[in-house]
Amino acid sequence: MFEDFSLFPDAASSYASRVDSLYLFLCTMTAVASFGILCAVVFLSVRYRRRADRAAEQLEGSLPLEIFWSAIPAVLFVGIFAWAAKLYLEMYREPADCMEFYVTGKQWMWKIQHPTGQREINTLHIPVGRPVKLTMISEDVIHDFYVPAFRIKRDVVPGLYTSEWFEATKVGTYHLFCAEYCGTKHSEMIGSVIVMEPAEYEAWLGGQPASQDPVEAGRVLFENLRCVTCHDAGKNQRGPDLHGRFGETVGLANGTTVLFDEAYTRTSILEPKHDIAVGFEPVMPTYEGQVTETQIQQLIAYVKSLATDTGEGQQK
Ligand code: CUA
Repeated sequence: MFEDFSLFPDAASSYASRVDSLYLFLCTMTAVASFGILCAVVFLSVRYRRRADRAAEQLEGSLPLEIFWSAIPAVLFVGIFAWAAKLYLEMYREPADCMEFYVTGKQWMWKIQHPTGQREINTLHIPVGRPVKLTMISEDVIHDFYVPAFRIKRDVVPGLYTSEWFEATKVGTYHLFCAEYCGTKHSEMIGSVIVMEPAEYEAWLGGQPASQDPVEAGRVLFENLRCVTCHDAGKNQRGPDLHGRFGETVGLANGTTVLFDEAYTRTSILEPKHDIAVGFEPVMPTYEGQVTETQIQQLIAYVKSLATDTGEGQQK
């Protein structure tokens, strides 16, 4: 919409032009209203200036006028709310078929992991025309993943997963910024998002040094950290079997429920006493300090992969 208008960055995602339309509407409305008020101030000051031949007269209220100037702003504001809320919800709810990337912020760099395990720093290669979801966390302070051309910006917080999604619509290289002051080199915490044709992206992925599949890395960790001892259905089982659980609702010992998602998995690894699954004792030790954010992401990838794995007929 504004490609040739230098005040706006490139519009390169599926909702960029819609964010711009809303923004432009708000600016125009504000400008029109401000101009109207300015004109009224000037006109009324001149017309009703103090004059010797005129005394002030008392005016009674007018109901139609009151309704008129209350209804117009009410309709406008409710309309803006509905328009913005619709867009906001869409930006929050990712479609089901997203490619899922992990982003870890750290003073002062962005670490990125592709769905197939390839890693890069301060650069994100993605294919055009595919919805992409970023699941993000910080290793130290609050950062903020901001790509103006996609109109996406979300805080990256220590100890909590946040996410954002977008679909790039134009091949090209776009700026990536950290938009939260995070220390001395905040201004250097920048990078690029490189949008490629799908075939080109596949070729690029193929040319990257072979890195470990996150699911496989997670499986190895699951064994090495001895998670498997307690979480395997069998005589030593002391925790819930994790097959087919990701994405489901978990009943907790305190009577509440929680969604088995990335955040729940992460909390269970670091603060196992936080949410005890119904029917189990709080015997799991914490892995705080023993696993890095990257390793937690790998464990999550593995647990996620168990969702479609029935565990060879084991009972849940
Ligand atoms: Cu990271 Cu500012």
